[in-house]
Amino acid sequence: MSDTNLRHVLGVKDLASNEIETIFYRAREFKEKGFSSSVFYQQDPAKAPIVALAFFEPSTRTKLSFDTAAQRLGCKTIGFDNPASTSSAKGEQLEDTIKVIEQYADALVIRRKEHDTPEVIKRVASKPVISAGVGSQEHPTQALLDVFTIKERRDLETIDHVVSYGDLANSRTMFSQVRLLAREGITFSFVAPKQMQINDEFVDEIKAEGAQVNLFDRIDDVIEDVDVLHIIRPQKERWDSDPTEMYSAINIDTFSRMKDDAIVLHALPRTGELSPDTDDDPRSIIFDQVANGVFVRAALLEWILTA
Ligand code: NCD
Repeated sequence: MSDTNLRHVLGVKDLASNEIETIFYRAREFKEKGFSSSVFYQQDPAKAPIVALAFFEPSTRTKLSFDTAAQRLGCKTIGFDNPASTSSAKGEQLEDTIKVIEQYADALVIRRKEHDTPEVIKRVASKPVISAGVGSQEHPTQALLDVFTIKERRDLETIDHVVSYGDLANSRTMFSQVRLLAREGITFSFVAPKQMQINDEFVDEIKAEGAQVNLFDRIDDVIEDVDVLHIIRPQKERWDSDPTEMYSAINIDTFSRMKDDAIVLHALPRTGELSPDTDDDPRSIIFDQVANGVFVRAALLEWILTA
């Protein structure tokens, strides 16, 4: 039976702004001082919490950073990243998989394609669950680490124009990031070929937060006015036909037209849409995002495990 007091984090709206501030404060402490203040270091190691990592979709950064974060905190981890080797390949339903895993673990991290995943989790889970990405819908922890990384460079109040570029229709990272940044007075420009553009429902959702929304199909239309540029790869796994080369790559020439204090984000993996010749430009913070993933996820794990 699901417990409504559990700290599930299945979408960015599951966290209140003061909770996000608490998590960011703790993530900064871990980054600056290390993990020795983790509450689990004070405990008997035999009682170390176990975090289960259940990845039904491919992952490099998200899975390994959750694993690293849990272990740095003094937790232990179990899990899988190849569902073909689990009972889901035999037809086991998520409901049963959750009920089984929570007999072993104190918290679950789940990545899965099916969009009913948050609903199933809320209905059956009796241990806290963090979403590591649901299909093309939400990726809350990526958005948290994105915003944490932006804040290391710039006060959020100075960010007036956020540009999302690429396969937007299928980008869970973009949906979560924009939801987290949306506020009165901010402008979002969504730049994508028509087939990859966001739908009216999302436009309305973001406008309801008081944000301005513009749609473009060419990055050249906005590049000179960008504060934050978020680049998204073609989400091949969500297309029946090959979606590659539907939009032009961002490279050092594109960077030469951006403002000096612009910030460029990419959740990775990149597949040609962001040239490595931009990596040494200080405006690119893509590897800061990778590093911060561990601190933010550690803070979040500690927070859900100590509720
Ligand atoms: C993202 C994802 O899985 O949605 N990757 C990640 O978590 N670092 C972005 C992507 O795959 O394009």
